[in-house]
Amino acid sequence: SEISYVMVKPDGVQRGLVGEIIGRFERKGFKLKALQMRKCTREIAEEHYKDLKQKPFFKDLVDYILSGPVVAMVWEGDGVVASARKIIGATNPLNAEPGTIRGDLCIQTGRNVVHGSDSPDNGERETGLWFQGDASVEWSQTIQPWLTE
Ligand code: GTP
Ligand code: MG
Repeated sequence: SEISYVMVKPDGVQRGLVGEIIGRFERKGFKLKALQMRKCTREIAEEHYKDLKQKPFFKDLVDYILSGPVVAMVWEGDGVVASARKIIGATNPLNAEPGTIRGDLCIQTGRNVVHGSDSPDNGERETGLWFQGDASVEWSQTIQPWLTE
């Protein structure tokens, strides 16, 4: 089923927001498939944001992602990609609604604490990029019948 690649960016890690951010997806009911704290390479960061390569902020963006460890995650569930985007909120945190992660926890586009895939295809692509091999876990969530009929 559908997966989204979600990542706590270096500012989120440094600010101690990892638990807060994971908790929002966990409480929503989505299923955690993979989780890893890591420092990424420039190659992975550039590939991850390759659609933004022509933007004037591209180098600053890649440097930001490389500025410290990130927490990489894969969340699964029907509609998880669009729902995660809503949970995360608008790119510019000053435009993000209160109640969203960015609306509640940050103020600048260039320090917006979390990433979420923008399409199911990118959910698959980014998961493949960040989690090569068998890092993704197959498991059954025992509360699942209480979440979906
Ligand atoms: P991601 O979930 O990180 O992909 O954010 P997004 O989908 O809400 O926005 P987008 O993919 O358009 O941009 C990716 C990231 O680039 C943003 O989250 C910001 O961290 C950064 N970014 C976007 N626009 C700007 C900008 O104008 N200036 C700066 N400094 N960074 C930007
Ligand atoms: Mg994006």
